[in-house]
Amino acid sequence: MSFITVRTPRQVALASAALITGLLAVTYFLVIYILEREFSLLPLIILLSLGFSISYGIVFYFIERFLYHKVKIIYKTIHSLKRQSDSRPKIQMSADVLSAINKEVADWADEKIREVKDLRSAENYRREFIGNLAHELKTPVFNIQGYIESLLDTDLQDIELNRKFLDRANTSCERLVDLLKDLDQIAKIESGNMPLELTRFDVVQLAKETVDMLEAEGSERNVALKLRNANERPIMIEADRKRIQQVFVNLLMNSISYGKDGGETRIRFYDMDDNVLIEIADDGMGIAMEHLPRLFERFYRVDKSRSRNEGGSGLGLAICKHIIDSHNQSISVRSTEGVGSTFAFTLKKV
Ligand SMILES: Nc1ncnc2c1ncn2[C@@H]1O[C@H](COP(=O)(O)OP(=O)(O)O)[C@@H](O)[C@H]1O
Ligand SMILES: [Mg+2]
Repeated sequence: MSFITVRTPRQVALASAALITGLLAVTYFLVIYILEREFSLLPLIILLSLGFSISYGIVFYFIERFLYHKVKIIYKTIHSLKRQSDSRPKIQMSADVLSAINKEVADWADEKIREVKDLRSAENYRREFIGNLAHELKTPVFNIQGYIESLLDTDLQDIELNRKFLDRANTSCERLVDLLKDLDQIAKIESGNMPLELTRFDVVQLAKETVDMLEAEGSERNVALKLRNANERPIMIEADRKRIQQVFVNLLMNSISYGKDGGETRIRFYDMDDNVLIEIADDGMGIAMEHLPRLFERFYRVDKSRSRNEGGSGLGLAICKHIIDSHNQSISVRSTEGVGSTFAFTLKKV
């Protein structure tokens, strides 16, 4: 059983130096005893201090050298595995080799753990995405197949039935096309293949144009789309006009799809210092609290069957978030189930 646990080269050197100093002291006493000299304290102190310092220095140097050679291989391996191997710092012989290598190994292990975590989450994300995508594609494709097969089973003489089935197949085709368009857009934004085309324009005017454009869809579902003030002052912003219109379209279409019969959607503008805050508020079905944090994720839906009946791809809000993020702005939602939802986003004023 050992009483002292030696952990670092410094401790080993200290212990060795103490031992050597002890031996020196014993030798000193032996020498003055044998030679019958008179004992004096000063030379003893000088001898012991010199002995201690020199032996400490020598032992420490050799231990460091020994460790340096031992750990060099590990150290090199770690650095060759690091991504930026050219920025490789040289380990110094004079430095505390053990602490240095300790830190290196710990950093390296942290980095590897992070990389593995990132890879795992990317892999989960990819798997989930492909699963969702297959699921989304399945419904319209199977529907189209079903209608065509049913038609082929008949003698095709019943014009009315032919039209009915072809109409339904066509609706499924349209859904498929919408889904592919959304997917294409999200893929382009994510891969950075669609750089922003920034222009200066009046965002109030853009909102008015979009409201006019969607009026028919609104009245079909008996939802009125309105700007808070009919004569809202112009607010000039710098952004990608086409994409911001896409955000308006997606949010307004949602307010219609998930709105109530006879409901109303209002667009409000709040002039902030550098930004304008735009709110799109409806008085529709609302969204339960637990869904809000995940609402902007791809394919996330509160009521799956309702959304699919509405022809939704589940990508609308994810696209909105991508677009607003790419403008370095933010989008958020607040909602009360049964009362209504408000989506808010900011844009940079000029
Ligand atoms: N204004 C809203 N009111 C209530 N629920 C909404 C509203 N907007 C979005 N949602 C919910 O968020 C989900 C995701 O919206 P979105 O990304 O546009 O996909 P989609 O409309 O294609 O389902 C919708 O399925 C719906 O459940
Ligand atoms: Mg939608």
